[in-house]
Amino acid sequence: MTPASRSRRPLLIANWKMNGLHADGIERARALAAHVGGAEAIDGDIVVCPPATLLFALRAVFAGSGVALGGQDCHAQAEGAHTGDVSAPMLSDAGCSHVIVGHSERRAGHGEGDEQVAAKAAAAHAAGLTAIVCVGESAADRDAGHALTVIGRQVGGSLPEGAAPANTVVAYEPVWAIGTGRTPGPADIEAAHRQVRAGWERRFSGGGDALRVLYGGSVSARNAGEILAVPGVDGVLVGGASLSADAFWQICQACR
Ligand code: PGA
Repeated sequence: MTPASRSRRPLLIANWKMNGLHADGIERARALAAHVGGAEAIDGDIVVCPPATLLFALRAVFAGSGVALGGQDCHAQAEGAHTGDVSAPMLSDAGCSHVIVGHSERRAGHGEGDEQVAAKAAAAHAAGLTAIVCVGESAADRDAGHALTVIGRQVGGSLPEGAAPANTVVAYEPVWAIGTGRTPGPADIEAAHRQVRAGWERRFSGGGDALRVLYGGSVSARNAGEILAVPGVDGVLVGGASLSADAFWQICQACR
């Protein structure tokens, strides 16, 4: 095994989005921690990104379990007059090691562009967090034959100076696949991941071999095995299916 492939240990991320009150969040986290602590260990890293309100409670549940915590977004500033926002140091303080930035629901719903995403990723790095930078084309981009161009542009613009495979993960999430039950075929996923790595190589003059690139968008227990077997796919970012500890654990097991 080369050093590059060793550093590309599978990464399985649960993105709960805006779902979960205290009681059900704790219950789901406990169920996942029980799976992870059971006999069927997996060869991969697991990160759960709950709503910010649950971070401190889940830190206690996951303590010693090997499950890491992540935020779903962070502000580009470390503190200040930004009502409603959460900063990267706050996430770190709450026990996070990771944070998602540039999710398409932030790009579309909050008007975030590549420059802002790069600033958020830089803030994550400054706080010692691993940035999970999301990119992905819309249905219109794909229909127009521009998918790879859009992916390349987003990768080029959304990664800050100082990004490295040790502090950054890129998640390829086609917008049209998120929450729809539709996924690209294996050849399209492979091409997109190759494009992400090529964009990284252009941006940083190398190093793409060690970069973990994840797929996200309608990953389920049914399709996870096929997706994780696609060359260049180093893990998955799971939304809807991660709201069931059992379904998410089945997805995790697909990387064994
Ligand atoms: P989904 O969401 O798994 O529900 O499609 C993935 C994501 O948005 O990260």
